[in-house]
Amino acid sequence: MEFGFSEEQLMIQDVARRIAQEKIAPSAEHHDRTGEFPLENIRVLGENGLMGIEVPEAYGGAGMDPVAYVLAMVEIAAGDAAHSTIMSVNNSLFCNGILTHGSEEQKQTYVRAIAEGAEIGAFALTEPQSGSDATAMRCRAVRQDDGSYVINGKKSWITSGPVAKYIVLFAMTDPDKGARGITAFLVDATREGFGRGKTEPKLGIRASATCEIEFNDYVARPEDVLGQEGEGFKIAMGVLDAGRIGIASQAVGIGRAAYEATLSYVKERKAFGQPIGTFQMTQAKIADMKCKLDASLLLTLRAAWLKGQGKKFSAEAAIAKLTASEAAMWIAHQAVQIHAGMGYSKEMPIERYFRDAKITEIYEGTSEIQRLVIARSETGLR
Ligand code: CAA
Repeated sequence: MEFGFSEEQLMIQDVARRIAQEKIAPSAEHHDRTGEFPLENIRVLGENGLMGIEVPEAYGGAGMDPVAYVLAMVEIAAGDAAHSTIMSVNNSLFCNGILTHGSEEQKQTYVRAIAEGAEIGAFALTEPQSGSDATAMRCRAVRQDDGSYVINGKKSWITSGPVAKYIVLFAMTDPDKGARGITAFLVDATREGFGRGKTEPKLGIRASATCEIEFNDYVARPEDVLGQEGEGFKIAMGVLDAGRIGIASQAVGIGRAAYEATLSYVKERKAFGQPIGTFQMTQAKIADMKCKLDASLLLTLRAAWLKGQGKKFSAEAAIAKLTASEAAMWIAHQAVQIHAGMGYSKEMPIERYFRDAKITEIYEGTSEIQRLVIARSETGLR
């Protein structure tokens, strides 16, 4: 068993840490307050290979492995969670599926622009009435005689929707077949029939833009189908397996930022004539925070390592996401408690970590869905 990292993995971690500390963290409060999309910083991430970490160099990426992706995501998330959300959608939800299921032409057209950070990608599965129950989607793609599809419907909660040029869309091509009647399409948002709806005013990750998107007689050409007709649900599930490693990493980054701020604070802040870190009740919290953080990181690295080895990792990704997201929420909660009034104030980033952590228990599969995936895998029952 090897707990060390390769030179290449340490290098990308270092690049990500530098950008996070020098460019991202200093503007995080501004982006949180204004909700302004951090386009300039996203371009910098792209120029440094962080928007397509696992994408081969031939398609504009950094050509690294999933462990490198985890290390970089943790650093960016520790700088600002919203930036890491945009990064994770480009890397995991957009590029991954096309690399696995796309044609050579699709990889050249769609992956390169996103991996280089020149464009933003999105992933459209959720609908107003269909979240955890993804097969309940209503968005329809009707096949025409010439092999093209006419798409109508609405998707909601689309991360980066307001700014995305390219979108991986899931639509029902054969409603009678349920999960086997869903097809994946590559959508160009500049084409006719595509529209954007209301943006979501969110509790946290406020600089990661989120909106509804609409399709009104949008025509997808035969070459816009990703994989085969009817394979869409499996593509979505496979992409989400990988995506969950990214969200677990994000949760580790948010948790680490909250933990490190707390560690400094308990050494400086005095009560009853001594640093609050000398009190046993504070020490217990510090020890529990550290244990949860380390366990989360190790579980996330295990899932990433399995993926890199080409082994099955669905359950391990769910275990990592569940553990890391609940740990991040718990750590951020304790961080607010230890900082007390200052933890509740917008003068410090602690309350932002608390708001940002919550989303990791919700998107890319709620904690309830992760438990379902893990229990199904363990018991073999459905
Ligand atoms: N990989 C590949 N195939 C898979 C799979 C996986 N991980 N999981 C299931 N499948 C296949 C099954 O084998 C089955 O195939 P067959 O028809 O050939 O047997 C098919 O998919 C249907 O599977 P299930 O019967 O298990 O499907 P289900 O309806 O019971 O749903 C679920 C399973 C786990 C609950 C799934 O619906 C799920 O993960 N839901 C959560 C959806 C989700 O994560 N949404 C997040 C939205 S995206 C987002 O948040 C993005 C963002 O903006 C950041």
